[in-house]
Amino acid sequence: MSDLNRRRPRRNRKSGAIRDLVQETNLQVSDFIFPMFVQEGSQQRVEVKSMPGIYRFSLDTLLEELKEVTDLGIRAIDLFPNYPESKKDRHASESYKEDTFYLKAITAIKEQFPDLTIMTDIAMDPYSSDGHDGLVENGVILNDATLEILGKMALAQAKAGADILGPSDMMDGRVGYIRDLLDEAGQTDVSIMSYSAKYASAFYGPFRDALESAPKFGDKKTYQMNPANIQEALLEAQLDFEEGADMLMVKPALAYLDIIKLLDQNFNIPIAAYNVSGEYAMVMAAAQNGWLDRDRTMMEVLMSIRRAGAKCILTYFAKDAAKILNEK
Ligand code: PBG
Repeated sequence: MSDLNRRRPRRNRKSGAIRDLVQETNLQVSDFIFPMFVQEGSQQRVEVKSMPGIYRFSLDTLLEELKEVTDLGIRAIDLFPNYPESKKDRHASESYKEDTFYLKAITAIKEQFPDLTIMTDIAMDPYSSDGHDGLVENGVILNDATLEILGKMALAQAKAGADILGPSDMMDGRVGYIRDLLDEAGQTDVSIMSYSAKYASAFYGPFRDALESAPKFGDKKTYQMNPANIQEALLEAQLDFEEGADMLMVKPALAYLDIIKLLDQNFNIPIAAYNVSGEYAMVMAAAQNGWLDRDRTMMEVLMSIRRAGAKCILTYFAKDAAKILNEK
C-alpha cells in the first residue's frame, strides 16, 4: 500500500460511538428560543397558513401550549403580537399602553412560568398602520423620532416582565438609546439581544402573514441590510456591541452562515441566529410533498447554524427538534 492511505479519515466514522466521540458541534434543547405568536381573545389557536404546525394563540391557549413547550425542556421563547388593523396607528401607540394584551400576556406568562425566559420584540410593524418598523412621514422612515417610540415600548416590555428585549427595527442608535433608558429606570438586569445584522430578506414572508404586518408601501431596504454586504454587518455589530448589546443576532440564518461565522470570530459576546419563517416554510413544504425528510433536514439545518458559530437559535422547529433530542 502506498503512503497515500496511511491516513484514513473513515476510521473516525466507523461506528456511532466513535462518530459521537469526535463530533465537533453539539445541539441542545437549551440552545433554542421558540418564537411564538399571541393574539387577543380566548380559545384561539389559528394555524399560520404558510407555516404548518405554527399557531397564533390567545393567552389562555398559549399558557396551555407553554406547558407542553416547557415540558419538552425549552427554556426560552420570543413572543410576537398580532394586532387587528383597528388597533394600529402611525405612531404604534398601542405598543406601550399598559393594558394592551401583549404586555399583559408577558406578565401572565412570567407569573405562571417564572423560570421561562421571555424575549420580546421591539419594532413598530405589528402596531403600525404603515406596516413599517419605524415612523413614516411622507414615505420616509424617520430614525430619531422612531427611537422615542421604541424607547417607550422597551420600558413597557421590561416593566411587564420581559427578560430579553429584541430590537428588530434596524434604526441607528437604538441599542444605546434603549440601554440608557433601561438603566435610568433601574432596569439594569434586562438584557438586549440586538438584531444586528438583519437583512432585507424575502424569507420573512410567512412571518408577515402570521402578524398581518406586511408594509403597506415600499420595502424595508432603507433600514434592513443589503444581502450583498459583509463589511456592513461588521459595522452594525460593532455599533451594537459598543452601545451595550448583550448578544448579537444574525437574521436570516441559512443564507447568512458566513455572517454568523464572521461575527462569532470578531466579537466576544454570544451570537444568536434567527432561523426565520421562510426557512421553516421551505423545509415544511418540501417535507409535505414527500421531497425531503423533515426530521433529518431540520436537524441538519439547526446543526449547520450551530457549526457556523451561533450559540443560540431562534427557530420554529424548537418543539420538533426538542422531541428528537430528548429521545436520544
Ligand atoms: C419585525 C420582525 C420581522 C421578523 C422578526 N421581527 C419581520 C420583518 O422585519 O419584516 C421576521 C421573523 C421571521 O421571518 O421568522 N421587525
